[in-house]
Amino acid sequence: MAGMAWCLAATAAWGGTCPTRPVRSVTSAQMPADVCIPDPFVDLTIDFFDDYSWRAFVAMVWPAAKGQRGVADTGKSVGAAGPRVFETYKSLWEIFHDDGSAPNPDFNASEAAAHNACRADAGFGGVVLASKNGIDDIGQAGIGELLGPLVAQNGRYVRYQTLYNRVEFEQIVQNKFYLRSSLPVVPSPRPNVPVFQFANGSIAIKAAWLDVAGFSRSRRKRFYTRNAIVKDPGSGKCASITVGLVGLHIVQKTPSRPQWIWSSFEQVDTAPNFQGAVGTFTLNDGTPGPMPAENPLALTPLARQPATPFSVIRSAQAPIHFDTAVTNRGYQELLANTVWQYYKLVVTQWPLQEGNQALPVPATQSGEIFHTFPGTGPGTSAKSAFANLAMETFDQGRPELGCMSCHNQARMGADFMWSVLDHAYPANLAPAASVVREPSARR
Ligand code: HEC
Repeated sequence: MAGMAWCLAATAAWGGTCPTRPVRSVTSAQMPADVCIPDPFVDLTIDFFDDYSWRAFVAMVWPAAKGQRGVADTGKSVGAAGPRVFETYKSLWEIFHDDGSAPNPDFNASEAAAHNACRADAGFGGVVLASKNGIDDIGQAGIGELLGPLVAQNGRYVRYQTLYNRVEFEQIVQNKFYLRSSLPVVPSPRPNVPVFQFANGSIAIKAAWLDVAGFSRSRRKRFYTRNAIVKDPGSGKCASITVGLVGLHIVQKTPSRPQWIWSSFEQVDTAPNFQGAVGTFTLNDGTPGPMPAENPLALTPLARQPATPFSVIRSAQAPIHFDTAVTNRGYQELLANTVWQYYKLVVTQWPLQEGNQALPVPATQSGEIFHTFPGTGPGTSAKSAFANLAMETFDQGRPELGCMSCHNQARMGADFMWSVLDHAYPANLAPAASVVREPSARR
């Protein structure tokens, strides 16, 4: 029965029954409410999830309606100019203030400029890439701690930005989750489901941006670029510069997948698929050298820009799944007249169960790897990438550090949302010991 109810919800979102094969489309600004899988369907469902991811991507990068945060301008097409829907969502600095004060509860309002590290009024859909300590938006995500930085070939650090849609933002505000003291207490013994769960339709975004300084005109054209107010970590000065989108995570809580659906996109020039591949890459110098096994860079102290880059390569052990690559080609063709043709889906990770994948997964199921695709769950022997090279650069070889499995460690306290656990006042996000270099070891 529960299956039926979900099917109705999912099919309603599609305006009909789920097709037996996904039908690609880039003409809708509507975020899919759920994955749509015909029932019964017991084979590998990757095509349906990847189609969901692409539709979600199109909805997130759709031009926003003027002055309306989170609302798409349906009079425009996906390739039209202007701030994108995801850029108008609420970013971390608008929610988690340094002094623990309450954010403006109006989703559509702009938060006071004093709350960001540049004290900048970014305007509607504006992007501010800055943190008070200069490393919060530069360190890569570890298990609730900050790891080393990622330097592109132009010597600039990749910068991270997290945003929430209205559904998720309003629950954070109503429950005062911007205060650590308001976060749900995890009872002992641990329950099977988190005491608090975000509502269906909650969306969280993590974007990776890069200063495109030094890029030729023809290279720049392959990136979605825009102005952003960016704090230089060395001088502490803020300036408006041109940044390009290098990576995008989209996660949504859906009726059928209470462990969220995890979608991740990269710009296509990010890194080669094998060592020695010829080309111009954002994160690889185009010579046959290997990728270091560990991040060679320290987060504290952070080297000044231009910093010394290293080469990133997609691991042959975790290539983009063949079926995902086919879906990518289909969507890239549909997006041929837009900059979005230069983006690719790396992975959709979703909670998996044995048997009919069209049925919703029980909320009691955890997010550990044996419950994910890709992972080590039933029927998932097929290889797939599960790390975004611009965001989880060194996690390619560790399935226990797939999206859902790493975020599972934040499940009980914040329903998988690491940033809530990290940034609720007082913030609790320290660099891992391995990325702090003692002054004596400074080179
Ligand atoms: C090693 C652990 C780890 C892995 C693997 C990981 N993340 Fe995260 N992720 C984090 C942490 C920690 C944060 C919060 C960083 C902060 O506080 O600013 C985060 C933030 C996010 C956010 C913003 C919302 C939130 O939960 O805070 C999204 C969305 C996200 N990650 C998606 C993904 C996707 C998609 C993948 C897989 C491709 C992934 N993550 C893999 C640790 C991880």
